[in-house]
Amino acid sequence: MINLSQYSAIFIANWKLNGNFTFLKEYYDKLKVSSNNCTVICPPSIYLNSIKTNKENLYTGAQDVSFYNEGAYTGELSASMLKENGIDFCLVGHSERRQYFRETNESIKIKCENLLRENMIPVVCIGETLEQKENKLTEEILFTQIKKSIPNIANNKNSIIAYEPVWAIGTGLTPTLDEINSVHELIKNFNSKFKNFKVLYGGSVKSTNSKDINSLKHVDGCLIGGASLKVDEFNTIIS
Ligand code: PGA
Repeated sequence: MINLSQYSAIFIANWKLNGNFTFLKEYYDKLKVSSNNCTVICPPSIYLNSIKTNKENLYTGAQDVSFYNEGAYTGELSASMLKENGIDFCLVGHSERRQYFRETNESIKIKCENLLRENMIPVVCIGETLEQKENKLTEEILFTQIKKSIPNIANNKNSIIAYEPVWAIGTGLTPTLDEINSVHELIKNFNSKFKNFKVLYGGSVKSTNSKDINSLKHVDGCLIGGASLKVDEFNTIIS
């Protein structure tokens, strides 16, 4: 398994349902990864196996994995299939999957276990909605998500947490820097096991705010959606 502690920051590009072969080629031709950071690109699953790169510190991640390991489950991809195709990371429990595909903390936990069994790194996404934030429920929501969706076998060496406030995803809105830092601190203080977890921030990260966000004490990198689709912008973010 990849040694996460060697990296000062981790940047994950979540392409969501975007991209094609031409895009992929141009993107990888222009992508400039830096030596002390870990960069992970998560394309739609049909392209996972088309990415051939031997750039150091550059990895490929899936956007989802099946709850099941094999059998009559049309349309699914198992953790062992991803592993066999050289995939090292996998997003789990992204808010779009929780919202549009009815994923629950319980199913997310099983997906994490499937990935960990294959020595892949789950990137577990957690975050509150605007309504929950306004009702001062952020801590309660995050703690429930951590408790219920992160399995006991997860630790700071084999798993990553991404804090993505749902209201910040794709909206151009972000929490203040103080808010981001204190929520990350809260997550790391959930209990002693989480103290050294890598916790990434996601939600409207762009080249204009990434430097400030990444300089925060408790932020270990970013999960980037929209801005990761423009390779020049993504290069600036990861530089
Ligand atoms: P965004 O998406 O950067 O477009 O806000 C982040 C994400 O969904 O992971």
